Amino acid sequence: MASVLSTLPRFSSKAFLAPMAGVSDPALRLLCKEMGAGLVVTELTSIHAIIAKEKQLKTQNQAISGFIEYSEKERPLSVQLFGSELEALQKASQIVSPFFDVIDYNMGCPAPHITQQMAGGALLQNLDLTKKILETLVKSTDKPVTLKMRAGVDNNLVFKDIAKIAQKAGIQMITLHARTVHQGYSGQSDWSLIRELKETVDIPIVGNGDVTTPELAKSMIDQTGCDYIMIGRGAMGNPFLFEQVNDYLKTGTYKKYTQQDRTELFVKYLDYASKYKIKFANIRQQAMRFTKGLRGGTIFRASIMNAKTTDELKLIMSQIS
Ligand SMILES: Cc1cc2nc3c(=O)[nH]c(=O)nc-3n(C[C@H](O)[C@H](O)[C@H](O)COP(=O)(O)O)c2cc1C
Repeated sequence: MASVLSTLPRFSSKAFLAPMAGVSDPALRLLCKEMGAGLVVTELTSIHAIIAKEKQLKTQNQAISGFIEYSEKERPLSVQLFGSELEALQKASQIVSPFFDVIDYNMGCPAPHITQQMAGGALLQNLDLTKKILETLVKSTDKPVTLKMRAGVDNNLVFKDIAKIAQKAGIQMITLHARTVHQGYSGQSDWSLIRELKETVDIPIVGNGDVTTPELAKSMIDQTGCDYIMIGRGAMGNPFLFEQVNDYLKTGTYKKYTQQDRTELFVKYLDYASKYKIKFANIRQQAMRFTKGLRGGTIFRASIMNAKTTDELKLIMSQIS
């Protein structure tokens, strides 16, 4: 049981990298961190998987970092959990706590295999369980606990009720992806809801949804008063965005990057990725993202899809000029 609640770490930037399953692997997170992300978050992880893996890893004298991989250079580092069974939640948070600086709880994922377990975005329709989950989490760890949510399951936008429950439970920061679960990724993130949230609670608010340029990052902060912004799809294949956002917020200008800069950064990604157990199919998808929109793209993107090894990917990158 936690006796003293620790507070949030100091963030070096207002721009955070969003958790993205299959995308925000430790190599991409490190690149984004090096380019100036203030916080990086692991992909969402099942509390039940954490408990099962810990048992297995213990027999091999390994810690949970053998399952949720990361490097010290990513710190401050947040681990994102999902799952709603209270005892498992307590156990899983105790397992991960010594290794991470922040524990984030997912209440936004729209994927059916998650919502069917009354987890992710589905919890937005169950305020009683949400209260129990958040109280359990805060009590089980001495690390700061944060919440990432959507605005509601459907047009019944419950985010302000949830935020009040969260603040009372001891949650220290809330990220709002201002879409409903039913919306998926359609339509637009409604930033006016982020402003409403900021006016509802006193804890820091992270605005999320559709920030893809430094100008949009500034607009979101100006329009909503949010304390931080979180960038997901805009940072895919584009870790440069963090430096650009930081510079733009400070000076009103930012450096543009060339095609060659992007392919070189991807080679660095490959070097970092070689230290972790990242599926090759995911690495190949990263190559597609780093080369999206580049000149002559169609030809080399077909070769990327056919590549079988990271050496082949490196060779393809060297041929892009
Ligand atoms: C491929 C993909 C995977 C995602 N995985 C997660 C996840 O594991 N946990 C989470 O809270 N959100 C996840 N999200 C949602 C993002 O964190 C973010 O809330 C959403 O993409 C909106 O931000 P954006 O417009 O900047 O992309 C994912 C999004 C994408 C596109």
